[in-house]
Amino acid sequence: MTKSILVTGASGRTGRRVVKSLSKFGANVTSFLRNPEKKAEMLKIGSSSVVFGDMLDKDSIKKSLVNIDTVFHIGPPMCPDEIEITKNFINISKSVGVRKFIYYSVMHPLRRNVRHHKLKLDCEEMLIESGLLYSIIQPIRYMQHVNISFLNKSDTPSVLSMPFDINKKFNVVDLEDIALASAKIAIDDTWLYGTFELAGPQSLSQKDMVDIILDIISEKKLSFPNGVIARRMGIDELRLKAKESGVPEDKIIQMVNMNNHYNEYGFLGNPKVLEMIIERPPNTFKEYFSNLL
Ligand SMILES: NC(=O)c1ccc[n+]([C@@H]2O[C@H](COP(=O)([O-])OP(=O)(O)OC[C@H]3O[C@@H](n4cnc5c(N)ncnc54)[C@H](OP(=O)(O)O)[C@@H]3O)[C@@H](O)[C@H]2O)c1
Repeated sequence: MTKSILVTGASGRTGRRVVKSLSKFGANVTSFLRNPEKKAEMLKIGSSSVVFGDMLDKDSIKKSLVNIDTVFHIGPPMCPDEIEITKNFINISKSVGVRKFIYYSVMHPLRRNVRHHKLKLDCEEMLIESGLLYSIIQPIRYMQHVNISFLNKSDTPSVLSMPFDINKKFNVVDLEDIALASAKIAIDDTWLYGTFELAGPQSLSQKDMVDIILDIISEKKLSFPNGVIARRMGIDELRLKAKESGVPEDKIIQMVNMNNHYNEYGFLGNPKVLEMIIERPPNTFKEYFSNLL
């Protein structure tokens, strides 16, 4: 049997795109899933096979690593168990002879005041010292946090509402570009021992994004008669919305913590590393959003 790449978090927002992108390069992808109902869809989007398990269960990790050459580990977002999960995947990978480990981190894990950044920093250190062949991927905030769901044609303006200062800048990145870069890094050993900061091409505030959206609406001759505006969502409103959607309390605390950090510092990064890996300029916010309308 051909050796393959195991992708964890495969059915999530990031994982699905990474699986698709790897399969376009002809990789033999095994998706690590906890929900059997997702099997058919994962096979359809490019997985060659699936394994079922819980990232917190060592036995299921061990079973998932049979005949695996490379682990592409994407942990659940803002997860308090990030270190335990990653440690188990690294240790068991070593013990069963996995050759290479790709860790999906975040840009600026050194921002220790944001818990999930700090946890990812500790995981990066663990991987570097593990003796496994490795690469580390550090993406910035995704463009995909802004989608078309806030646009409406009713008698109120469409409000792009995020829980931070509407003038703070972010080098948001298109997740499709991240998935392409991730696949290239995973399948080609020339990227070994690299830690790759992946950011989008422009430093944009919420207000800048609204201006770009208004340009697209005008160019495409679309009509949102009551306009589009940017607004800072209050932290209490964020808490309430998250609670109503069933987000666990620990994750709500981390969301508040992260957004307060963004409110103070924004999230800036340089696009050149991403451009080098994907061999073209990363997508602009305008290109990303135009495709949604
Ligand atoms: N959003 C951003 O802008 C951004 C930027 C940089 C880095 N990141 C990082 O990207 C990573 C992925 O984020 P995402 O938004 O793609 O996540 P997501 O959509 O919430 O997906 C999480 C995935 O993990 C799986 N999962 C969760 N707990 C599990 C468990 N105990 N055992 C097995 N599987 C489990 C979920 O399975 P189910 O489908 O069964 O729920 C799902 O496939 C995170 O580490 C995040 O920090 C995100």
